[in-house]
Amino acid sequence: MMHCTMRTGSVLIIFVAFLIALSKCSRLLIVFPMMAPSHYNLGSSLAKGLAEAGHDVTIIAPYKEKTIPKDWKYREIVLDGFLDRKEKEQINLFDFANTPPVITLFGMNGLGNEVTDLTFAHPNVQKLLKDKNEKFDSVIVEQFVNDAMKYFAYHFNAPLVSFSTVGANAWVNPLVGNPAPPSFVPEIFLSYSSRMSFVERLKNTLFSVISELNRHLIFFPAQNRILHKYYPDAPDLKDLLYNNSLILLNSHVSTNPPVPLLPNMIDIGGFHVKPAKTLPKDLKDFIEGAKHGVIYFSMGSNIRSKDFPEKMRTNLLNVLKSLKQRVIWKFEDENLPGKPDNVLISKWLPQNDILGHQNVKLFITHGGLLSTTETIYHGVPVLTIPIFGDQKMNAAQMVLQGFAQSIYFEDLNYENKIRNALNEVLTNPKYAGIAKQRSKIMHDQPLKPLDSAIFWIEYVIRHKGASHLRIAGLDLAWYQYISLDVYVFVSSVSILIALILVKLCKMICCKKTISKTDKVKKNK
Ligand SMILES: *[C@@H]1O[C@H](CO)[C@@H](O)[C@H](O)[C@H]1NC(C)=O
Repeated sequence: MMHCTMRTGSVLIIFVAFLIALSKCSRLLIVFPMMAPSHYNLGSSLAKGLAEAGHDVTIIAPYKEKTIPKDWKYREIVLDGFLDRKEKEQINLFDFANTPPVITLFGMNGLGNEVTDLTFAHPNVQKLLKDKNEKFDSVIVEQFVNDAMKYFAYHFNAPLVSFSTVGANAWVNPLVGNPAPPSFVPEIFLSYSSRMSFVERLKNTLFSVISELNRHLIFFPAQNRILHKYYPDAPDLKDLLYNNSLILLNSHVSTNPPVPLLPNMIDIGGFHVKPAKTLPKDLKDFIEGAKHGVIYFSMGSNIRSKDFPEKMRTNLLNVLKSLKQRVIWKFEDENLPGKPDNVLISKWLPQNDILGHQNVKLFITHGGLLSTTETIYHGVPVLTIPIFGDQKMNAAQMVLQGFAQSIYFEDLNYENKIRNALNEVLTNPKYAGIAKQRSKIMHDQPLKPLDSAIFWIEYVIRHKGASHLRIAGLDLAWYQYISLDVYVFVSSVSILIALILVKLCKMICCKKTISKTDKVKKNK
């Protein structure tokens, strides 16, 4: 433990270092297997934050850092080969723009099972798990259709921290027993905000039932099979699922609607964002030379703008050409035929530093959660073009909050739809004003989100898994949790009493008529 912060020097320094080491230094395993830059961005930001704070960090991920400070305890277990697979597939993500949510749901099963299997099968991972000398004080696992990976925490007998890359959703809520009424908590694959019409609530409720059934009948059994294929002696998945000490959520009330959160669910949304740095000279000159401000346009790290169908691209270019603003577009080809003079294209752009520049007036985005968080951090209003995953829900929420306009993929076939939405955000000062308010909400917190993450990870280690935070509801059967048994009992008793009353009434009424007829007889 001591090696974390010890330096040679006077006895006093050693003693202080010893105290710091005792109180702070833990060995942490961070598992972020998804082959997506945005996921790695989150995992590595957390890992680096923990290393910076003096912890001894091991991260399992398909990516690695370019440089690591010498004084960090930072080990990378790289899932090499994962990215080659992704490159080979070369999926055009625009093909998913109209995928029905139920198909997405089942598609995620396949993706999750593949990543889980590949991770367990990876020689670097197997080597780590076979090594008897490896010890960790806590294991932090990305929660992304990979529940079998909770086994890592069991294997190392360390408190499990699950990191939800998409806020509190149906993947994590049931694991800790967090209430999430479908009446106001939208499912991530639908396109609703927290305020739903009757029909939307109906669909949201049905979808939540389907997704729960999918998990219990299809997904968890498959994950359990994969786990036991590699670790036959592992406990059943259901014994691992509900043993989370802490849930870290990539959400915050500035970006997401407020929802119920249990004491062991901690919002750390925004933790990956850093204050903007100075831009490279060409970008800086381009932005500062724009008299009417700059629009930044990026479809994120997964979707490629160069894959826009030609008609849509032409429409976009026609609209951008007619603007007085300058535009910076993340575009993955060297050439963009018909590129107007006010548009700068580049394959890679320092998004956070661009959004942080005062002269950037609008962000055209796919509405991924990281882009959403970054734009709120810097207070930039947006036009969203959501394509898949949680993007439609994020877009609906931004529109509800009032700093965004949203258009769907098919709308890009109509030049005037793009133009109208863009002009609305550019000319109506309401959007920029609300974006600034949202930014203030994000920055107004008792602890910086990264510090909060570090505090809570250390907390569950200090309290040996912090089982005092576990709610009693987790030990109930699902029908007890929602009090279905109570409702059934009360309704049965009510029905029984009603039946008895009806019977009694009938008897009394009958008696009366009998006695009446008796009287009539007697009078005769
Ligand atoms: C559940 O977590 C606790 C605390 O970290 C640990 O002691 C226990 O072994 C875990 N059980 C399973 C089945 O993972």
